[in-house]
Amino acid sequence: MTEAILLVGGQGTRLRPLTINTPKPMLPVAGVPFTVHQITRARDAGVTRIVLGTSYKAEVFREFIDASDLGIEVVIATESEPLGTGGAIRFAAEHLTGGADDSVLVFNGDVLSGLDIRGLVDHHERTRSDVTIYLTPVEDPRAFGLVPTDQHGRVTAFLEKPTTPEEIVTNNINAGCYVFRRSVIDRIPAGRVVSVERETFPGLLAEGALVSGVVDAGYWLDLGNPLSFVQGSRDLVLGHAPSPAVPQHGDFLALAGAQIAETANVHGGSVIGRDARVAEGAVVNGSVVFDGASVGAGARVRNSIVGLGAVVGEDVELDGAVIGDGAVIGARNELREGVRVWPGVHMAECSVRFSSDG
Ligand code: GTP
Repeated sequence: MTEAILLVGGQGTRLRPLTINTPKPMLPVAGVPFTVHQITRARDAGVTRIVLGTSYKAEVFREFIDASDLGIEVVIATESEPLGTGGAIRFAAEHLTGGADDSVLVFNGDVLSGLDIRGLVDHHERTRSDVTIYLTPVEDPRAFGLVPTDQHGRVTAFLEKPTTPEEIVTNNINAGCYVFRRSVIDRIPAGRVVSVERETFPGLLAEGALVSGVVDAGYWLDLGNPLSFVQGSRDLVLGHAPSPAVPQHGDFLALAGAQIAETANVHGGSVIGRDARVAEGAVVNGSVVFDGASVGAGARVRNSIVGLGAVVGEDVELDGAVIGDGAVIGARNELREGVRVWPGVHMAECSVRFSSDG
């Protein structure tokens, strides 16, 4: 197996407003676009050719790939209309060169994992499966569709999100990485929207195909929402998540041209982007400050994302907030859990505060 499809065409709605200008897989995580972590992991697992299934903001991928050498052949397939996960796999497969029985690795563009990719492919080929799905156990499976398997590792059903305790028959969920036999991809309908999770996989089970599940309890994170995005970045910087694109781990990562004042305290796996600035006495903990952004004196930034060129004023407190590109947060504002500021918004000094006495 030497070929893979990486799905990167989604709109990334849960990560708005960061994804208004930049598609989710191109957002910088630990110094490089997130997709680079995935491509280099696939490369190191023996994949030599990868097709990027793009749709939303495809030109951003094209420019980046044209200017990069990731040590692997990268081909870009662009849907004129988004085709959904299954439709995108079918469309991208036109660019594969392998035969009908060859294995094709397929993965979602927002998953950070420590999966043994080679092991997944070996399992697929040893069991002669039609599709093999990477499953990960989660503590609270109520927010996910469940994927139970029998004692031989054969997937027995694809269940909707459980609503009662009795419906939680397993803690294993689809972890967003698959191996397909090429001929199975060719049977996905072409030219229309298809969901691989809701249509292709249940359809395969219904017709008696061999769908295997491989449970891997190692590191897994879906970087689809702001809190998990900062967590993924933090885990890469601290070395809790594996990636060949992070050569060195530490308490924080400062990219070229970043200026951090001596009395500032940057820690907890934070990233300070290119030419970004952190002023005197500011504390940046477990956060991501994008290129060209600035954090004012005495500001406290925790579990937050500060967009490209955004300005965080003096003594501002951010906790679990997302600041869009170019936004300006005036001095002494307090923005907490879930607050999202849209690109270019200017927030006056001291206009939002949380009072401890309610
Ligand atoms: P949300 O809108 O926040 O849910 O994020 P998303 O757009 O990434 O959707 P989701 O997480 O469900 O998508 C799973 C994976 O499939 C991601 O890597 C997406 O980039 C990708 N994807 C989803 N829809 C399409 C599509 O129509 N075309 C392509 N090429 N990829 C898609």
